[in-house]
Amino acid sequence: MTIVLLGYMASGKTAVSKLLGTALELPVVDLDDYIEQKERKSIPEIFETKGEIYFRKKEHQYLKEVLEMQEPKVVSLGGGTPCYANNMKLIHEYTTDTFYLRTSIKEIINRVKDEKSKRPLISTISDEDLPEFIGKHLFERNAFYQQATHSILTDHKTVEEIVVEIKQLLN
Ligand code: S3P
Repeated sequence: MTIVLLGYMASGKTAVSKLLGTALELPVVDLDDYIEQKERKSIPEIFETKGEIYFRKKEHQYLKEVLEMQEPKVVSLGGGTPCYANNMKLIHEYTTDTFYLRTSIKEIINRVKDEKSKRPLISTISDEDLPEFIGKHLFERNAFYQQATHSILTDHKTVEEIVVEIKQLLN
């Protein structure tokens, strides 16, 4: 069993995957962490020194590597992973237990505005321009996110509540 969590930056993928992994006694693979370990660079460093195209190629390569691991696991993707290199098609060749953590624009802005430097795609966007940027970005990405088997609204929910919902949908 491989469970895949996806969603926009700051949708809670990492926190939910950790608790879900504990609840189901499954190991958790965070794709961003996996890329950082393999490349021996942080994500912002990869973007800065090699550029986004290189990052997307590596992201696809390492996603495949993770999916090919036979053992049951929870995989937390990067926010852009579903939107490049036919990655959703690839994921569904391995599992249909895919969950889109859906978060409103307002909530995303609240969560990312104080930690923009960790996120290369929005680090140079001013606070003032953030709502428009995120609104457009989410609109473009939605078609990919919606390919997930399940969609879970995360606004006003605790990580525990989201994990309960995922477990119910798995049964
Ligand atoms: C990205 C999201 C990031 C990371 C990279 C690109 C994106 O992951 O993979 O900065 O394209 O949305 P998180 O969603 O975990 O922040």
